[in-house]
Amino acid sequence: MSDKKPYYITTAIAYANGAPHIGHAYEFIVADFMARFKRLDGHDVFFQTGMDEFGQKIAQTAEKQGISPQELCDRNAAIFEDMTQKLEMSHDKFIRTTSKAHQESVQAIWKRLEENGDIYLDKYAGWYSVREEGYFDEKELVTDPATGQKLTPNGTEVEWVEEESFFFKLSAYEERLLKYYESNPQFIVPETRRNEIVSFVKSGLRDLSVSRTNFNWGVPVPGHDAHVMYVWLDALSNYISGIGYPDEKDARFQKFWPAADHVVGKDIIRFHCVYWPAFLMALNLPLPETVFAHGFINVAGKKMSKSAGNVVAPDRLLEIFGADSLRYLLLRDIPSGQDGNYAEDHAIQRVNSDLSNGLGNLAQRTLSMIAKNCDEVLPEPNAFTEEDLALLDRAQLQTLKAVREKFENYRFHEALQEIWKLVDEANGYVDAQAPWTLKKEDPERMKTVLYVLAETIRCLGLLIQPIMPTASDKILAQLGISKGDRYFTKLSSEYALKAGTPIPKPQGVFPRIEVEQAAE
Ligand code: MSP
Repeated sequence: MSDKKPYYITTAIAYANGAPHIGHAYEFIVADFMARFKRLDGHDVFFQTGMDEFGQKIAQTAEKQGISPQELCDRNAAIFEDMTQKLEMSHDKFIRTTSKAHQESVQAIWKRLEENGDIYLDKYAGWYSVREEGYFDEKELVTDPATGQKLTPNGTEVEWVEEESFFFKLSAYEERLLKYYESNPQFIVPETRRNEIVSFVKSGLRDLSVSRTNFNWGVPVPGHDAHVMYVWLDALSNYISGIGYPDEKDARFQKFWPAADHVVGKDIIRFHCVYWPAFLMALNLPLPETVFAHGFINVAGKKMSKSAGNVVAPDRLLEIFGADSLRYLLLRDIPSGQDGNYAEDHAIQRVNSDLSNGLGNLAQRTLSMIAKNCDEVLPEPNAFTEEDLALLDRAQLQTLKAVREKFENYRFHEALQEIWKLVDEANGYVDAQAPWTLKKEDPERMKTVLYVLAETIRCLGLLIQPIMPTASDKILAQLGISKGDRYFTKLSSEYALKAGTPIPKPQGVFPRIEVEQAAE
């Protein structure tokens, strides 16, 4: 039990109509980094991810593949769940919207919205994008100059739909939403996305069609057999159904709602920053603290798409890099909140230089020198010099401060840069102090230098835990740091390594990635 505020974080739930790609992996990694960071900072964390399994898109894909929608979902959910394991995600729950518990929760949500007078029956006539499972106004659409086809601003095709439909009174929430954005500037991060949402809502909200009748792969609308719920009403509700809603007395709901962070891609902010808060207002529930919109990953400078044939599968990346390095790579290379790029040769270079040459080499050369020259035990240091104290201060105190500041502002790539400033500083210190020369010239000074370096590596091992869970575990285990001594509170001189700690000959933690190996 922690006295810190409980922390609830979610990813978007992925559509179950296909296998995961690098974009999904990126979102998982970002959210997992955040969840782990909060745990290390002493918060009780609930981290949820999962699958979005209903809707027309999934029904159509299943039909094309000649299988039932449920089979398609089961197949893809298994692949996604396996991916979360391979990426070393630390989620507490993997929710599936076809589960009985979720469907019952959504039906209860529907009834509450209906009882509160927020739902009415009418007829929908307008544009719909099956790819995005979204309704669009004529004025939002653009025309593809090549084909003359109408497209959404995200470039997906639309079709004209006319059907009987239930509507949610979204227009009634326009003013309240605008006020909410104004008084809670942290609700939408980054600011560019916030501006986008504010101007969308200011341009006027229409009531939202929340049921469909021309297919049946959805949660049935209670009391109206011909209707299934609009998939986004069902999908967004996962954030509360997963923690026990509609039972507001459920311990998880009591403890973890409202959520602190919804991590989603920039393409789905309208759903999370307009529809979702309006549904919650209608349910008289408090709103989540932040919707953090990350950018999109392009591949070698191009938008990833099946038709361009450049979709990068996480399995391929895991094969080249392994989970730790892949996590590092994406967190470091994709600017937080903005679009980023994946290019294999650059990625290999980055991993080799920052991990293998940077951190790996620092740990390897320091720990092997201790094993070799100090009988496999951490030596007793002598009086510290100014240089020693400067490095220790950065390792034990300043880096976490800087990292936390970046973390709190959702600048994750910069948080990593702060850690690597320490790696560079420590490598610079090794070169300047040249312990291999001291070995002959001043063995007592060598002991102090090796002690300072080992302590710096302890601090680095603690700091990289949310980024690279396995590598950090290996480094900390080599230094004999027990699990209970790995919280961020241990980043202080009070918990510094004790002389006499056994330091056996180290195992390399970050093997170099050879280009031939990647090309295989
Ligand atoms: N099912 C909806 C989300 C419902 S949440 C209540 C959905 N699914 S998705 O599978 O299309 O996308 C899942 C997440 O992956 C979204 O946050 C989306 O923005 C993100 N990404 C999809 N492609 C991406 C990239 N190329 N790059 C980064 N993230 C991307 O939307």
